[in-house]
Amino acid sequence: MNINNMDTILVLFLLSLPTAAPNDSYTFWASAIYTKGQTPFPKYFGTMMLNDVRLVYYNGETDTFIGRGNTTNEESVFNSNELHNIGQAIQNRWAIVEHFHKPEGFSTFQVLVLCQLDKGRPGQMITWEALQGSTIDELHWYNGTLNYTAQVPTIDYNATSKQFENLFYPYCIQLLNGFLGKRINQVNRKVKPEVRFGQKSPGPHLLCRATGFYPRDINMTLFRDGQLVADHEITGGDLLPNDDGTYQMRKILEISADEKHIYSCTVSHVSLDNKLSLEYDNRTPLKLVIILIPTVLGLVLISVTVIAIIQAKKRRGVAVVPVFLWRRKHAGKAGVPVQHVNSVDSGHSNDSMINDL
Ligand SMILES: *[C@@H]1O[C@H](CO)[C@@H](O)[C@H](O)[C@H]1NC(C)=O
Ligand SMILES: *[C@@H]1O[C@H](CO)[C@@H](O)[C@H](O)[C@H]1NC(C)=O
Ligand SMILES: *[C@@H]1O[C@H](CO)[C@@H](O)[C@H](O)[C@H]1NC(C)=O
Repeated sequence: MNINNMDTILVLFLLSLPTAAPNDSYTFWASAIYTKGQTPFPKYFGTMMLNDVRLVYYNGETDTFIGRGNTTNEESVFNSNELHNIGQAIQNRWAIVEHFHKPEGFSTFQVLVLCQLDKGRPGQMITWEALQGSTIDELHWYNGTLNYTAQVPTIDYNATSKQFENLFYPYCIQLLNGFLGKRINQVNRKVKPEVRFGQKSPGPHLLCRATGFYPRDINMTLFRDGQLVADHEITGGDLLPNDDGTYQMRKILEISADEKHIYSCTVSHVSLDNKLSLEYDNRTPLKLVIILIPTVLGLVLISVTVIAIIQAKKRRGVAVVPVFLWRRKHAGKAGVPVQHVNSVDSGHSNDSMINDL
């Protein structure tokens, strides 16, 4: 299991949680996994994230921190002494859990921690402990009070409260603020989705795919002849992480070649000023469209070029290409006659060309 897989597992876990907090709230995550027994991966490793941005990977075997992405001077953010104290506290906790549950053979102990900054103010902190992948305890620190659900009866409430008050909570908030200072641009960035909509071969399927967007919140909606397509007709729709920290989503709709409809896929995302809507029309056979477009375009291009060359020959010294561009540009303007264009009073470079004509 490599670093990327571990990060991806954490991201997938985060995606399964309720939707992101409001814009000006930030969540710092730290996870640690201890394993005992025959495993291909380190006995102790951890990762840290800010919202869904991967920050640091920790390899406990070699006691090394590996920064992810923008790592300019991030070592200064975490005090490794305090980190080691916390690592020790977690190992002590593991010893208690092990003693209580007595797992046989291979065992995994995981700790997941979050703390939040809510509109600039320190918020709650939550810690989950899991054995063999199942949560056994949840500790909730909020407004200076500890609440927990403990299956392991050896949690000393007063001692644990003190630990949260003096070490865990202040350190978590310190890390959150420190990393936020380094990564604020990355966390607040808005990246537009690249959207494709068309037939997915092989088979009678329409695929709408948006990829490369950030943050993860996106709405993708399919319409048939302007009517919302029901969810049960659609497959996909899961949000998936890309390797570069962006996301993708795809939705697939089965279509019948006999039914003629206009389909559209509409995407809204915070990076887009307006909704993005792509259309797919299966009323015209696809082959015809492909052949028609080059043919019509080709004819237009040939005739425009011929006219341009004739004109250029008439007017010595006028370059062929600019005249050609000018013709095409103005041809689209609802058939404005050339003599009218000549009278337009403007300083555009193209207009000097017009005056030359
Ligand atoms: C602690 O848990 C109890 C029972 O679940 C709940 O009523 C109470 O509001 C919680 N207190 C805090 C501070 O979260
Ligand atoms: C990387 O970090 C530096 C300073 O720590 C910051 O100025 C820069 O904007 C960051 N780059 C990105 C892509 O977040
Ligand atoms: C998606 O739609 C929901 C419900 O209409 C809306 O609250 C939310 O802001 C939309 N999200 C985006 C990114 O457009």
